[in-house]
Amino acid sequence: MSHRPDVSQAAPEAPNLDFEGTTPYEDYVQADVLTHLQHPRSDDPGEMVFLVTTQVMELWFTVIVHEWETASRALAADDLPTALAALKRSTYELQSLNASWEPIAHLTPAQFNAYRAALGEGSGFQSAMYRRMEFLLGEKSASMLVPHRGAPRVHDELQKALHEPSLYDEVLRLMARRGHDIPQRDDLSQRYEADPAVERAWQAVYSGDQESELVRLGEALTEVAELVWRWRNDHLVATRRAMGAKTGTGGSAGVSWLEKRATKNVFPELWTARSHV
Ligand code: HEM
Repeated sequence: MSHRPDVSQAAPEAPNLDFEGTTPYEDYVQADVLTHLQHPRSDDPGEMVFLVTTQVMELWFTVIVHEWETASRALAADDLPTALAALKRSTYELQSLNASWEPIAHLTPAQFNAYRAALGEGSGFQSAMYRRMEFLLGEKSASMLVPHRGAPRVHDELQKALHEPSLYDEVLRLMARRGHDIPQRDDLSQRYEADPAVERAWQAVYSGDQESELVRLGEALTEVAELVWRWRNDHLVATRRAMGAKTGTGGSAGVSWLEKRATKNVFPELWTARSHV
């Protein structure tokens, strides 16, 4: 038989092809919007993957912020299972985020130069969603709002995040409610600085029952901290390969400036307390 029936009618198990307006997939995913947001600034064919990698990372930042905000709210409500589930999801997302360096991790300076000038003064330094991540990790900085003065929605979201307790603030508040001697922070909009009392609290947690909820929380946060550190170091190495010691498009000293930022660990006492367990 050479006759081929119309699949949509003859095979009831085949997918539906017939929709009134846009497809339900489109209505949910908005793929048409998403796949038409790519506007390279040069004729270089290598620019597209640089732009898309950056956009993909912005999407991961957005999901991760969502997870950490979920975790923060759950911690404030003493709901550890919900907080741990969100933190766990974020570690898988951070691994995907970090894996997305691959397509732009091997650029030669000449390949990067082919579109670098087209970026103008644009730099990831101006990523507001990255700052939301940093604020949740405790790395608050009012000056990071300045570049966004001209974008009211972004500015308002960052301002709110600056003054709200960070994920780590909520962790420490929960530990205080559970009897650990942890000083209250007066001004939540300030960058979190390591505190010996907090180090002692983590030391006590890690010296106790290894199955406790706080050890599990500590380990989930350690995983997050390690993956954030990895993102920063992968970024540093990709930058070193693509542009050596040139100054950045954002106006910084470039690699030497990134090196300083990449050495820091978030949730500092979770690392230092280990020396005393
Ligand atoms: C080969 C590609 C890349 C190079 C050469 C590069 C270079 C740089 C440089 C030199 C800086 C320092 C600020 C400046 O002066 O511009 C910077 C900052 C930054 N970049 Fe990239 N970058 C690359 C890819 C990306 C991608 C794909 C993202 C994803 C969004 C990104 C996000 C950031 C962020 C968030 C900062 C600020 C870091 C901080 O404040 O500690 N970069 N980048």
